[in-house]
Amino acid sequence: MAKAKSVFFCAECGYESAKWLGKCPSCGSWNSFVEEKVQKKGSAPAAVSARGHKPMPIKEVKQGEESRLQLPDAELNRVLGGGLVPGSLVLIGGEPGIGKSTLMLQVALDANVGKVLYVSGEESESQIADRARRLGASGENCYLFGQSDPEAILAAAKEMKPAFVVIDSVQTLQASWIDSAPGTVSQIRDSAALLMRFAKESGIPVFLIGHITKEGAIAGPKVLEHMVDTVAIFEGDQQHQFRLLRCTKNRFGSTFELGIYHMEGSGLKPVANPSSLLLGLRNESLSGTAAAAIVEGIRPLIIEVQALVSSAVYGTPQRSSTGYDVRRLHMLLAVLEKRCGFKLASKDVFINLAGGLSVKDPSIDLAVVASVLSSSEDLSLSANTCFAGEVGLSGEIRPVMRTEQRLSEAAKLGFTRLFISSHSPTLPEAPAGLEVLRVSRVRDLLAAMFG
Ligand code: TYD
Ligand code: MG
Repeated sequence: MAKAKSVFFCAECGYESAKWLGKCPSCGSWNSFVEEKVQKKGSAPAAVSARGHKPMPIKEVKQGEESRLQLPDAELNRVLGGGLVPGSLVLIGGEPGIGKSTLMLQVALDANVGKVLYVSGEESESQIADRARRLGASGENCYLFGQSDPEAILAAAKEMKPAFVVIDSVQTLQASWIDSAPGTVSQIRDSAALLMRFAKESGIPVFLIGHITKEGAIAGPKVLEHMVDTVAIFEGDQQHQFRLLRCTKNRFGSTFELGIYHMEGSGLKPVANPSSLLLGLRNESLSGTAAAAIVEGIRPLIIEVQALVSSAVYGTPQRSSTGYDVRRLHMLLAVLEKRCGFKLASKDVFINLAGGLSVKDPSIDLAVVASVLSSSEDLSLSANTCFAGEVGLSGEIRPVMRTEQRLSEAAKLGFTRLFISSHSPTLPEAPAGLEVLRVSRVRDLLAAMFG
């Protein structure tokens, strides 16, 4: 038997080296090498028989688009770009306890597309069956398999020919031809490569569930993300009940799609109208709240921004924010101070976004400014007002994309006033009942808001 040898892998790209290196010669990242004892007990098995594959003209290649599988979960279909593409390898990442297993088990139980193979290396068959009962689905076509050896999984899949396979999780896979622990770079890389060849050659789509490290990256080598066709990250914090499924890579669709779920006692439920939940408990008489009309991916959402401005008790004022970039908050406060003459330098400023969402769309700036002004002046804003605009360094309010979508979302939720930048292009008719107010500078906002 071959002797176990120490090999070093770059955790970023999977580059293999016989000795430790400070800098990876392949991807250039620093301090990314991890040591693994690897004992190859032979070579990787073939995923499917080695068929005589020949190059062929592009016109003769069958198109897979029409045959996308429609899963029972409309949100997941949307995130995947309109259904599951045959032969695709999809990675669902997320922190422990976020609901990855629940989501995929629900899909496997409710799918009406033929047999489904649900493989788990984390839970036993009886534990999964208990959970399935709790989810209340019959799951006649769902087959459970407690297994972590990729070869055994493939053998079962080849015999069963399921509509799709779910593997929970990639970190528990243990290929028998490699003698290193599950979850190590070499195990994940080789097992995933085998599953990918299987998916491509058999046309059976495979879902891989993957854990996420503290830093937010998929545990294991970065090559995993390069290998798979689609990466969807399941996020949201455990205290809040929202779960967002966000696509970060998709070979078969856009990465702008976002699925929103709500964790309930009987499993994850898609949220049909997320804005109504993100608006928090709106109370007209309180100062410091403003609604923002944002677009996450291509999905318009109205979300409540809460601000608290109070005199600093300690020498250095505190600035903290949940869900909004704190550096951007510092910038907005500097703009208010310098361009508009608000004295905020000696104030504590806290920002919170309702629902535990974290927003990157800069169009939320205007609502943040509005909530800070409302709290600082102690004037409450009408609950029927919302905002969409990016704020620049000179205090100008800049136009944002997809204004029409924001307009219709605001109108749908019963808002009567929407503030946008006066530089926004002329819009087609605003929806009935919604007044669109254009402002060009932050300085003009206060008068326009409360005037
Ligand atoms: P799970 O799918 O096990 O998370 P992951 O696979 O991402 O680690 O889900 C974990 C959480 O979801 C768990 O803390 C309990 C909660 N949960 C519910 O609230 N309702 C349910 O019906 C189920 C199945 C789980
Ligand atoms: Mg799990």
